[in-house]
Amino acid sequence: MTIQTAPHSERAAQDAADQSIEIRKFDAPLGAEVIGLDLSKPLSQADFTRIHRAHLDHHVLVFRDQRITPDEQVAFSRRFGPLQIHVLHQFGLAGHPEVLIVSNIMENGTPIGLGDAGHFWHSDLSYKDKPSLGSMLHAQELPATGGDTLFANQHLAWDTLPAHLKQAVEGRAAEHTYLAKYAELQKRSPWRPNLSAEQIAQVKPVTHPIVRTHPETKRRALFVSEHFTTRVIGLPEDESSALLAELFAHSTQPEFVYRHQWRERDMVFWDNRSVMHLAAGTPDDQRRKLYRTTIEGDAPF
Ligand code: SIN
Repeated sequence: MTIQTAPHSERAAQDAADQSIEIRKFDAPLGAEVIGLDLSKPLSQADFTRIHRAHLDHHVLVFRDQRITPDEQVAFSRRFGPLQIHVLHQFGLAGHPEVLIVSNIMENGTPIGLGDAGHFWHSDLSYKDKPSLGSMLHAQELPATGGDTLFANQHLAWDTLPAHLKQAVEGRAAEHTYLAKYAELQKRSPWRPNLSAEQIAQVKPVTHPIVRTHPETKRRALFVSEHFTTRVIGLPEDESSALLAELFAHSTQPEFVYRHQWRERDMVFWDNRSVMHLAAGTPDDQRRKLYRTTIEGDAPF
C-alpha cells in the first residue's frame, strides 16, 4: 500500500525560503552530512533540488539534531514520492501508518516496534514489485553503546565484481521474498508476530534483475541480499546457492561500507537503489527507538 504526495507540501515549498546548506562528504565509500538544514521548516524547491542531487551523489545523507515531529518526517519523505506502509502494520506509529517504529523496547511485555529490523543485510522492501526508492530513519531514543547502522555501496560492489561473476549474473534475475528469514528470526526474537493470511498475501515472492540500473543516475548496482533473496531464476539449487553466497560475501566487504554511529535526533536518508544496510545490534539491556519512513521507487530494470 502507498500513500500519495500531499498537495499542501508543494504549496508550502513555493513559499519557503532557501536555507544555507553545506554538503560535506564523509571520508568513506559513501555518505555525506547535510549541514545547515532544519527539516522542521518548509523546504524550498532550490533546497529540495540540492538534497535530491546530494542523495544521488552520496547515497546516504545524515542530517544532525533534527527536532522534527512524525508529521514533519512524513512531509519531508513525501517530497520524494508516495510512502509505503510496512506489512507489519502493528508496528506503525499511532495516527501515522506510514511511520514504522524500529525499536527493541517492550512495554508491559509487548514490543512497541520491530526490534530486529535490519538484522541481515538488505535493501528495504526489495520483496515488493516496486521496492523502496529510499528510507528515512529518525533517532528517538539511542543506546549508550551499540546500535550502529552499516551501509554498503552496491555500485562499488558491481564495479569491482570479478569478471567471472559479472558474466554469471549478467541478464539473470533472482527471487526476493519477505518470508525468506522470517521463521528463523521469529525463533530467536520476541518482535516477530505470526503473520495473518492477509499479510502473507501482501508479500508474495517477486523477481528482480540481479544487476539493476539506477533509474536516475543510470549507474548499475548489485541488487541481491542475504535477507530477502532466495534463488537465482533458471539455475539448479546448488548452483544458485553457491552464486548467491559469493555475491553476498562480495557485496558487503568493509571497503564498500560506511558505519553510522547515531547521535541524538539524527535523521538518516539512504538510497535503497544504491546501498544495502545492516543494523549492527543493540545490547539487550539498552533501549533504542527510531521512526522509519519508506518512499516507493520504480520496478527495478
Ligand atoms: C532498518 O533495517 O531499516 C533498520 C536499521 C536499523 O535499525 O539500524
